[in-house]
Amino acid sequence: MLATYSSLLPVLAALLNLSTTSAQQVYVLTTGTPARPQCAAASKAPATPSYKFSSFAFTQTETYRYATSIPPPATTSTYARPYTALSTLLPSMSTTTWGSWNPNDTAATDTADPYGQAAWSSLWAWANPPNFTTTGIYSTTVSPTPVPSSELVLPPADYFGPTDCYTFPPDFIFGVAGSAAQIEGAVAMEGKGPNNMDVWMRPGLSDNYVTNENYFLYKQDIERLAAMGVRYYSFSIAWSRILPFALPGTPVNQAGIDHYNDLINYTLEKGMIPTVTMLHFDTPLQFFAGNVTSRFKDPMIGFFNGGFQNATFEDAFVHYGKLLLTHYADRVPIWFTFNEPLLFSDNGASVNNVVKAHARVARFYKDVVKGTGKIGLKLHDNFGVPRDPKNPGDVAAANHFNAFHLDTFWNPLVLGKNYPEAFTMTIPDYVPLTAKDLSYMRGTCDFVAVDPYTVTVVSPPPGGIADCATNTTSPYFPYCVVQGENNTFGWNVGYRSYSYVYSTPRYLRTYINYLWNTFHVPVFITEFGFPVFAEAEKAKLADMLFDTPRSTYYLSFMTEILRAIWEDGVHVMGALAWSFADNWEFGDYNARFGMQVVQRETQTKYFKKSFFDLVAFVRDRHPNYERA
Ligand SMILES: *[C@@H]1O[C@H](CO)[C@@H](O)[C@H](O)[C@H]1NC(C)=O
Ligand SMILES: *[C@@H]1O[C@H](CO)[C@@H](O)[C@H](O)[C@H]1NC(C)=O
Ligand SMILES: *[C@@H]1O[C@H](CO)[C@@H](O)[C@H](O)[C@H]1NC(C)=O
Ligand SMILES: *[C@@H]1O[C@H](CO)[C@@H](O)[C@H](O)[C@H]1NC(C)=O
Ligand SMILES: *[C@@H]1O[C@H](CO)[C@@H](O)[C@H](O)[C@H]1NC(C)=O
Ligand SMILES: *[C@@H]1O[C@H](CO)[C@@H](O)[C@H](O)[C@H]1NC(C)=O
Ligand SMILES: *[C@@H]1O[C@H](CO)[C@@H](O)[C@H](O)[C@H]1NC(C)=O
Repeated sequence: MLATYSSLLPVLAALLNLSTTSAQQVYVLTTGTPARPQCAAASKAPATPSYKFSSFAFTQTETYRYATSIPPPATTSTYARPYTALSTLLPSMSTTTWGSWNPNDTAATDTADPYGQAAWSSLWAWANPPNFTTTGIYSTTVSPTPVPSSELVLPPADYFGPTDCYTFPPDFIFGVAGSAAQIEGAVAMEGKGPNNMDVWMRPGLSDNYVTNENYFLYKQDIERLAAMGVRYYSFSIAWSRILPFALPGTPVNQAGIDHYNDLINYTLEKGMIPTVTMLHFDTPLQFFAGNVTSRFKDPMIGFFNGGFQNATFEDAFVHYGKLLLTHYADRVPIWFTFNEPLLFSDNGASVNNVVKAHARVARFYKDVVKGTGKIGLKLHDNFGVPRDPKNPGDVAAANHFNAFHLDTFWNPLVLGKNYPEAFTMTIPDYVPLTAKDLSYMRGTCDFVAVDPYTVTVVSPPPGGIADCATNTTSPYFPYCVVQGENNTFGWNVGYRSYSYVYSTPRYLRTYINYLWNTFHVPVFITEFGFPVFAEAEKAKLADMLFDTPRSTYYLSFMTEILRAIWEDGVHVMGALAWSFADNWEFGDYNARFGMQVVQRETQTKYFKKSFFDLVAFVRDRHPNYERA
């Protein structure tokens, strides 16, 4: 515990430092009005205005600007040898193609083949997805059409906006993100196998299976991102689309390999750069096979049972990760093995399998593939801040919360240090790491990637952290802190969105400082976004599109990133906005994190104002982009 605290000393020092360049001022108790340093000149004006008449004319002037795409680089970069050279690194594997599943269709007769069409169909029959439907609009890849310039006119700027004078470093990564389960659709088509998302997150409405039909519309989606001037496109690959039977030794789905090859190539062709997440919540269903009700098991640690604890998981993930790297590492410079794994961790074995699988995949990338890109994993911690920064108990609780969420993974994978005490004192079945484990794991994350949507206001639980940590039935277990959203005076920490997200830009800089000064590798903001309150209930498309609260969120967060870079000397390597379009938010479409509206009946997309505002903010400040 003490070791963890000492790594926080710079942050604590900053907390108490009230100078204007300090990274954090949680609050300063005072009275009166804020200073207006920018008003020095105006204060020389006369005390009373002089009123006068003049002739009237409409004086507004409008400047129309168009979003423009970034030209493709003159030379293509590669980050590893191509598949033809790397394929020998894998055991020989068969590839197959399967059809699409329809529960009414019992035609397949190749029942002797353990991986034939009949076996594949019975996987789906076993999965038994509730209220399953195949009724999307598309069943084949849609040819893209150019985005008409009439869709690319920038909206009116908000009255209050950024006043900074900073620029992004030339290598700063800016992009937009999405994930397979939330956008692809085609859940039982072209050989994809069932995963947890397909059976437990989609009950109720059958349109849960359709999502954005990105499996067929990816070219159009990419075309639209390119037209806006986005540089990086971050997506995830569905494991069950690559390996419908999940495990090593089972055949590879050629249609899945081809799909992502084409998606990557099309991204590059449009002047953008792909980044790939290997597992974004959609664990193949096989890892829950032994006990079907355990799919719904209430996990000890996270919110969902992601199947990571299964003894076959680690080897299977490593096999899958190697398969992706050999196929795609030549063209993909940034890799994330896991998305937010703690949220889907059941118990100590889950975390053990995740950190070991990550380290093995990363070692393969660095030592065997000799990839020149970067690899890491992304975590979900919505930074814990002490409810009262002057109260040592609250500070200790915030440290405990953050250590549990972050140090559990990055102690071993970045620093080669053991799990933090916050984790080991709490999780009764945690698997101890040996010195050999730690030296193997150390340095297998090139960056610390977080999805800092908002902050969590933290204070100790009744009875204290230590009592809670030994009591798995405590309502505060396993994090063992009170998690809130208001300050000591009862005010919300920020403007609240539809969901759990409060807009908290001022805390972002503190968070970035914490990450950099704790782990000493670049910080990567891999998701951030804002589901505007009641956006889904707005009757008019035009009102959904004019999403000022989302613009405010994005521009304020980006401003704080710039301040962290230039005022605190923190290396932030990039920011990926979540998400490039409204999508399936695990059960419905109501929490809208997108920068495009999706008209569900037709799958037509419309750019929201925030998309233009965010891209323009970056392009105005990025030496490698032309001005918007
Ligand atoms: C299966 O058949 C039933 C009854 O004809 C029909 O209502 C249902 O839509 C069919 N399901 C699919 C996925 O085609
Ligand atoms: C299937 O859909 C119906 C009608 O929407 C709903 O009442 C039922 O709960 C759904 N079943 C499951 C298992 O989600
Ligand atoms: C993708 O691009 C690579 C490298 O340029 C090329 O070898 C491959 O054939 C392309 N694949 C597809 C599916 O277009
Ligand atoms: C673990 O995964 C394997 C597939 O690799 C499966 O056969 C087994 O039933 C799973 N165990 C549990 C408890 O789900
Ligand atoms: C299956 O898992 C559930 C939830 O964890 C558990 O309650 C049940 O006893 C298990 N059944 C078997 C046969 O292991
Ligand atoms: C554990 O927490 C539960 C729920 O708050 C409480 O009822 C129980 O007494 C606690 N057990 C111990 C040993 O403190
Ligand atoms: C502030 O947050 C705490 C902890 O979640 C909660 O108990 C309390 O009701 C909140 N106060 C207000 C005014 O919302």
